Amino acid sequence: MQLIKAANYEDLSKKAATIIAAQIIEKADSVLGFATGSTPEGTYRELANMCSNKLISFENIRSFNLDEYYGLPSDHPQSYKYYMNQNLFSKVNIKAENANVPNGSAPDPNEECKRYENAIKAAGGLDLQLLGIGRNGHIGFNEPGDRFEQWTHLVELTEDTLDANKRFFDKIEDVPKKAISMGINTIMNAEKVLLIANGKDKTDALEKMLYQPVTPNLPASVLQFHRCATVIYCD
Ligand code: F6R
Repeated sequence: MQLIKAANYEDLSKKAATIIAAQIIEKADSVLGFATGSTPEGTYRELANMCSNKLISFENIRSFNLDEYYGLPSDHPQSYKYYMNQNLFSKVNIKAENANVPNGSAPDPNEECKRYENAIKAAGGLDLQLLGIGRNGHIGFNEPGDRFEQWTHLVELTEDTLDANKRFFDKIEDVPKKAISMGINTIMNAEKVLLIANGKDKTDALEKMLYQPVTPNLPASVLQFHRCATVIYCD
């Protein structure tokens, strides 16, 4: 695993965007996995700038987001689809039909999970997956548990995650309790993974991920087994 300490959040964002841009330059029809949350916002800003400056093009890029709340319509301001439209999709030349996010309003969530996983396979798998990390060590919405969920699945969110996400909603009762998330195998099958972590409240999870035994109690620890994982962090 490659570990890179960034000087600050801006530096982290530039470094992460540069790695993604290099992937796009090397393979113009890459399949990219995206994450949401506060950490990648700067990375998306940088990518959008590089795209406006014609350094990179998303014309032939296909993307798959890690996760989506289940039970929120895709135009809800807290849905991850909305977040991606605001932060990246509307700012780069990606084709709408190539920008995939799990459908959080699908009538049958389990069917949606299967459809999504198959769509990733049909695209040839992920070339590079961008990840954040939760304070409890989650990646995507793979929460701590007694086993690794393998493929895209429906998740019951933990109290810690509901608590961390409540800042985006008026009250904690409004935070959706379920989500659709790529599984650990979906993520581990990506050719490369790039995890970004910003701030001291991630230090504990990062240390455990890097230096403690691999365990489903800290889902990110599985990345110790990934053949090409890069972690960029800053305090
Ligand atoms: C979101 C996701 C989550 C976040 C994690 C960190 O798509 O996959 O695992 O990456 O919760 O979120 P922030 O960046 O807001 O600290």
